[in-house]
Amino acid sequence: MSSLPNKTRVLVLKESPARDSPLYHDIVIEERVIPTLKEGEILVKMGAVSYNRRELWMRRGLYPGIVLGVTLGADGAGMVVASADKDDSPLNKRVFLVPMKGWESSPDAPELISAFVIIGGTRLSGTFADYVVVERDGVIQTPDHLDDIHMAAWPLGGVTAWRATVVNAQVTKGQSVLVTGIGGGVALLAVQICVAKGVNVYVTSGSEDKIQKAIQLGARGGVNYKNREWSSQLAKLIEQNTGNGTPQLDAVIDSAGGDIMKQVNKILKPGGRVVVFGMTATPVIKFTMHEVLKHHRLIGSTMGSRKDLIDATEFLAEHQIVPVVSHVLEGLDSAEEGFELLKNGEQFGKVVIRMGNLKAKASL
Ligand SMILES: NC(=O)c1ccc[n+]([C@@H]2O[C@H](COP(=O)([O-])OP(=O)(O)OC[C@H]3O[C@@H](n4cnc5c(N)ncnc54)[C@H](OP(=O)(O)O)[C@@H]3O)[C@@H](O)[C@H]2O)c1
Repeated sequence: MSSLPNKTRVLVLKESPARDSPLYHDIVIEERVIPTLKEGEILVKMGAVSYNRRELWMRRGLYPGIVLGVTLGADGAGMVVASADKDDSPLNKRVFLVPMKGWESSPDAPELISAFVIIGGTRLSGTFADYVVVERDGVIQTPDHLDDIHMAAWPLGGVTAWRATVVNAQVTKGQSVLVTGIGGGVALLAVQICVAKGVNVYVTSGSEDKIQKAIQLGARGGVNYKNREWSSQLAKLIEQNTGNGTPQLDAVIDSAGGDIMKQVNKILKPGGRVVVFGMTATPVIKFTMHEVLKHHRLIGSTMGSRKDLIDATEFLAEHQIVPVVSHVLEGLDSAEEGFELLKNGEQFGKVVIRMGNLKAKASL
């Protein structure tokens, strides 16, 4: 233990000065004492951490359960450098943090929904730190094919994408599936999972460039949701690809909300599933008798269980999937730059901070 530090730098939210309108909390780097490890706890030296849009919502005060002063960040990967048990098996292993707590394996929803919490900026401390103390079951081993940068781009988005596509939409090889808003981190991982499963994936985006990038990842094609006629354009695209006069989608993975049910009504097969994990465009979805008559199923999907994350990570390893990273920033000092990138929304893939530029000096 002699080479380990007793302090770590952490990134936290600090209350915005009252004059800020609209509200935008500050972020500050603070130095914290690393507590003595209790039985069952390990110390992870973070190699990389990654943003989700939730951190931006937190700065705007628009996220449930924000606790100011608690380390931000749900995603991160690194190395186990200490354990309360000196012969512990995770020691010196490369791991990533489980981004949530309170959902073990129940197939429908968390065992106790009020106990479910995402780490970082909530009542649970997160990943944006040089060192993180966590319970042993709060980490999962990193697959060999990924470095910390790409591993950090996976956990929260990966478990959300897995549950939406595999558990809830039940996509299978040969099906045709639409993933909306491909610029989103979760949507992109959903495409990668679908492609690895042998699904014919179609996408929507507000950017032609992002559609082309999705095609390079294996999507069959895409249309621009800014065009009001996007669903008939999509029908033509599927028809061209399949040669089938009645183009049909088996499922839709959506993060836009609004009129998605109406848009896909004519191209979704009877009994087809629309799985919604976010509502970026409009926070309401209209569900009418037209959908009832086609037996369409609308399913809400949020994150996933620890079991879902383990299953998803095994799939990631088996198919050697590499999450798409858009920008790599250097050290916690560059955190503000990451928030600016998220605000601009031009990234394709995750924004990651490479850690390791430690200013806190080892003193144990
Ligand atoms: N339920 C969960 O567990 C969970 C987990 C993570 C995120 N979410 C939610 O899921 C959503 C996406 O989050 P994220 O972090 O993956 O992505 P994100 O970075 O917030 O990206 C959102 C994307 O939405 C797309 N978009 C914007 N307006 C749209 C519209 N009118 N129609 C279709 N797409 C549109 C854009 O795609 P283009 O750039 O391609 O135009 C944009 O890149 C958010 O609402 C977030 O709160 C939910």
